[in-house]
Amino acid sequence: MKDYTSTPPVAADAVKASPDAPATATQPPREAAARPLPEDAMIILPVRNLVLFPGVVLPITVGRPRSRAAAQEAVRAQRPLGVLLQSKTDVGEPGPDDLHWVGTSASVLRYVTAPDGTHHLICQGEQRFRVLQFVEGYPFQVARVQVIEESDAPDADIEARAHNLMERATEILQLLPQVPEEMVAALRGVKSPARLADFIAGFVELSAEEKQRLLEMFDLKARLDRLLEVLSHRVEVLRLSREINERTKETIDEQGRRHLLREQMRTIQKELGEEDGSAAELAELDKAITAAKMPEEIEKQARKELKRLERMPEAAAEYSMVRTYLDWLIELPWTVAGEAVIDIAEARRILDEDHYGLEKVKKRILEYLAVRKLNPSGKSPILCFVGPPGVGKTSLGQSIARATGRKFARVSLGGVHDEAEIRGHRRTYIGALPGNVIQSIRKVGACNGVMMLDEVDKLGMGGFHGDPASALLEVLDPEQNATFRDNYLGVPFDLSRMMFICTANVLDTIPGPLRDRMEVIHLPGYTEQEKLQIARRYLVGRQLAATGLSAAQLEIDDEALGAIIRDYTREAGVRNLEREIGAIGRNVAVRIAEGKAQRVTVGADDLAAILGPSRFEAEVAMRTGVPGVATGLAWTPVGGDILFVEATRMPGSGKLILTGQLGEVMKESAQAALSLLKARAQGLGVKEDLLEKSDIHVHVPAGATPKDGPSAGVAMFVALSSLLTARAVRSEVAMTGEISLRGLVLPIGGVKEKVLAALRAGITTVMLPARNRKELEEIPQEAREKLKLVWIESVDDALATALSDVPAAAVPA
Ligand SMILES: Nc1ncnc2c1ncn2[C@@H]1O[C@H](COP(=O)(O)OP(=O)(O)OP(=O)(O)O)[C@@H](O)[C@H]1O
Ligand SMILES: [Mg+2]
Repeated sequence: MKDYTSTPPVAADAVKASPDAPATATQPPREAAARPLPEDAMIILPVRNLVLFPGVVLPITVGRPRSRAAAQEAVRAQRPLGVLLQSKTDVGEPGPDDLHWVGTSASVLRYVTAPDGTHHLICQGEQRFRVLQFVEGYPFQVARVQVIEESDAPDADIEARAHNLMERATEILQLLPQVPEEMVAALRGVKSPARLADFIAGFVELSAEEKQRLLEMFDLKARLDRLLEVLSHRVEVLRLSREINERTKETIDEQGRRHLLREQMRTIQKELGEEDGSAAELAELDKAITAAKMPEEIEKQARKELKRLERMPEAAAEYSMVRTYLDWLIELPWTVAGEAVIDIAEARRILDEDHYGLEKVKKRILEYLAVRKLNPSGKSPILCFVGPPGVGKTSLGQSIARATGRKFARVSLGGVHDEAEIRGHRRTYIGALPGNVIQSIRKVGACNGVMMLDEVDKLGMGGFHGDPASALLEVLDPEQNATFRDNYLGVPFDLSRMMFICTANVLDTIPGPLRDRMEVIHLPGYTEQEKLQIARRYLVGRQLAATGLSAAQLEIDDEALGAIIRDYTREAGVRNLEREIGAIGRNVAVRIAEGKAQRVTVGADDLAAILGPSRFEAEVAMRTGVPGVATGLAWTPVGGDILFVEATRMPGSGKLILTGQLGEVMKESAQAALSLLKARAQGLGVKEDLLEKSDIHVHVPAGATPKDGPSAGVAMFVALSSLLTARAVRSEVAMTGEISLRGLVLPIGGVKEKVLAALRAGITTVMLPARNRKELEEIPQEAREKLKLVWIESVDDALATALSDVPAAAVPA
């Protein structure tokens, strides 16, 4: 049977907790008659595990008959109860030796008999007392006691401590969870330091024994000190535990928040009918990774990224980055989807079908394809088509792709300055993407296609953003490109199955290491005859199709085509030719659409009406014909061209004026020409003092175009000689060659292009350095037939051919 229970101060509620219990009475039943108590004696109530302090209200349960008798007598006689803590808890009926001899007198506020038969007292602590002597002969314990008076004299020491204690206690109350407001108010209401100490001692969490020790501390200062110590410790403990609490709560909060958000997202998706979209998406990605048949290492990487994606909220900025990256990995063609066997005969047929002429080029291409067919894993060279615009470099590449049944990809390198354009940006950059090599591979969806790298000669030089040429080298070099590493992908991609073809207008601006790895194929440009064939067989048909006309509706006769080639275009390729044919097609289309005509045949005479006046008519004849003008031949990236060297003389002091945007080398060759002329003045019949009294001005028109190179040397010399001998240069003669001061003509480059340019310009005689004679073979047959080629050894040979016999006017005096 449980007799006395210690209850915390707030447990007063426990009594109220059964309000419907018919609380019997404040007047307890009378159980025993008692003899009167002496004046200085007090009825003793022994309690276990509970210390009552003065000023504190506590519920006390009484169970033992002797205790019940004591309580009833106290109520009946309206006497205080002396509450004493048992020093030995396991004793049923404690004697004087089993009790502490210091306690608190209490007035019984209520005596409650609960419906279950238990008896409860609500006691109010009044004063400390000390037992002097136990008195025998009562049905309960009685003792004679000495009440301990508390001094209330003001004392600064005590007040300071009390103040401190109040602060500490308030702090504790605030740290404790669920402390009622009233508690704080009650504490604040306690005015005397002694009362405060007891009040706090009543509710502070201490063992009964420790509380007893506080009760027995009659010295208030010592008691306050001890309480301060206890409270300080409590505050620390409470603070710490609260901190720990908060920290764990925080982590739980964050996790809970995320969980909640995810739940909400799912609900929203469900509402929208997109049930668990992300899960479906991830599953799809997983499938796609498997289907992409990546190499093992890359698949591992992809799955790693997928795992990251799974753990990421969809709204995170990184989510879309990882997603895009995965898309790249998935969509790149990692494996060959079955290589078409190259059929050489078929390839030849297709090349012929698409392109007229270019026999040498086609032959080389077929050789290349044959080697690839016989030794597919061998490291094939990189073809590089070099030639002026519009000669069919790009379209040859497309043709090769068609001939080999492969996809065609084109990467333009013109103006690429940043290595990252080729090799991509690292994924850490915002908006990073792979370089254009990988991009175009994804676009065509094949890792064994034909990739044309257009305009390698216009590749930017290495600089601040890395060297694009060295990045390109990694793409092209068969030694390296099996494990090409794009910065964005971060994993190797095998480029070795790709067929690379480069194109360029000029060779010398291609970085050396790159050029070394290329097999250069020159496409010098077409002769008039070739152009005519190309126009007839390809261009007219193509333009008809583009304008929606049928061959029956429009015919352009050969004469007209020839006139377009001669008078309306001056180019190495056929791009402008195709454009002019297109213009004719559109003009005729309008006429037919308007119903003005059914069928149109365009002849040479109709051209002026359709295309306007001819552009290049008889330019040479117009310009030359006066002394001092010679027709030179220049090599330019857009094919060869003719150029005029004009010289004039004015009174002066033998100065040489050069204009026309001439480069250093060209200026020097002008100087050399003049020196050479001076040295030979006598032999040429030039008066010596004529040169001394004149300033010579040499101009090379198309003054806005920079020109350079030594190959205009002969033309300069001829122009000067013509000027000073007053013999005009034959208008049908064009020339090229470098000169030495001894009058030798030195070899030059670009013979083919220059010869073709001369032919285009209507020249009939071309003077070439004799030392270039070995290149005769390379000059197109048609040019050789139509042109008179004169091989010159020295400037004297040049004058002999170029100058007309009859002086145009009298030689100036
Ligand atoms: N031999 C040829 N036979 C038929 N068509 C040709 C031939 N040469 C060029 N063409 C046509 O001329 C046009 C221009 O050719 P393409 O675009 O290949 O020139 P390109 O050499 O790549 O010039 P660029 O250096 O300016 O890029 C194309 O329509 C092409 O088909
Ligand atoms: Mg091109």
